[in-house]
Amino acid sequence: MNTRIPVRLGDRSYDVLVGPGVRTALAGVVRGLGARRAVVVSARPPEWVPDTGVPTLLLPARDGEQGKTLSTVEQLCGEFVRFGLTRSDVVVSCGGGTTTDVVGLAAALYHRGVAVVHLPTSLLAQVDASVGGKTAVNLPAGKNLVGAFWQPSAVLCDTDYLSTLPRRELRNGLGEIARCHFIGAPGLRDLPLPEQIAASVTLKAGIVAEDERDTGVRHLLNYGHTLGHALEIATGFALRHGEGVAIGTVFAGRLAGALGRIGQSRVDEHLAVVRHYGLPTALPADVDPAVLVRQMRRDKKSVTGLGFVLDGPAGAELVTDVAEDVVTRVLAEMPRADLADLVGAATTGPVPA
Ligand SMILES: NC(=O)c1ccc[n+]([C@@H]2O[C@H](COP(=O)([O-])OP(=O)(O)OC[C@H]3O[C@@H](n4cnc5c(N)ncnc54)[C@H](O)[C@@H]3O)[C@@H](O)[C@H]2O)c1
Ligand SMILES: [Zn+2]
Repeated sequence: MNTRIPVRLGDRSYDVLVGPGVRTALAGVVRGLGARRAVVVSARPPEWVPDTGVPTLLLPARDGEQGKTLSTVEQLCGEFVRFGLTRSDVVVSCGGGTTTDVVGLAAALYHRGVAVVHLPTSLLAQVDASVGGKTAVNLPAGKNLVGAFWQPSAVLCDTDYLSTLPRRELRNGLGEIARCHFIGAPGLRDLPLPEQIAASVTLKAGIVAEDERDTGVRHLLNYGHTLGHALEIATGFALRHGEGVAIGTVFAGRLAGALGRIGQSRVDEHLAVVRHYGLPTALPADVDPAVLVRQMRRDKKSVTGLGFVLDGPAGAELVTDVAEDVVTRVLAEMPRADLADLVGAATTGPVPA
């Protein structure tokens, strides 16, 4: 079953298609755009790239943070020029979130903006990175420091792509799906994976339609992310993003409980949901809580003190200036596990249907 999810942004509106085989919709999308040429940048094998219906340059790419650089953007734009790509043509990305991010930025900058269509191939890219128009590359000083808002013209989340995704990468995306339970999409954990993807995208589409430029409700998408980001950094990225977010979600429940915003059963629900997806729920044993607190103070949500998106009587919302002693106490009360076990469990545990 395929689902069509509209992202309503006035003249920048577009559809996200989710389901097996939806990549074959590409030629129709390209025709609808009136493009006469296409450049497809693909991290997957050429046979995975669908027909565009127009003369096409296929550029092989590689996923990974190393390639998310301004120099890749420059190289891509150079190839676009050599191929004669015009402003009314189209760029297509096919790969994980790193590829959709860097290709999205190249499309945003080339001739001050050329249409881009994303074919996300990792679960994380399907539920998150490819939808919403944020594009970025890394600098040596940090991740995603240079970017632009550039909405795609369509996103085709072909769930057939996921058949070759390593188990751990599947878990990575499940971390983002799990947090949806607490920001407006409860009950999706019992759905089959394609429907979980569609429900997560629907949630994100609604939030993005309200706050395209990330100045308000879009921060809800950062549920579990304050601690999640700190854990990624503190473990030298040994934890995948979705794993950090999963632990951060358990922590967000405990913190909301400690602040009297939710009752114990709702705190327990955080643990139950994250566990349901087979994701890690404990802090890595050798991570120093003081280092985590220091890192969380640098979070982009915390302009003045420690800021978290927390559940409460009116649902999730941004809570700023959370007292450091409460944060430290809740961190100290978190269960601990060896990093190797946390990562190992994520590699060998059951994958939900
Ligand atoms: N723009 C946004 O709004 C947004 C949101 C979330 C994340 N992101 C970005 O997304 C990136 C993370 O994305 P990611 O987790 O997809 O990382 P990734 O692109 O590095 O892909 C993860 C791994 O999965 C492999 N892979 C992808 N699809 C595959 C497939 N179908 N079969 C086999 N292997 C496959 C990749 O080769 C890679 O090894 C980060 O750079 C992050 O900043 C952006
Ligand atoms: Zn995330």
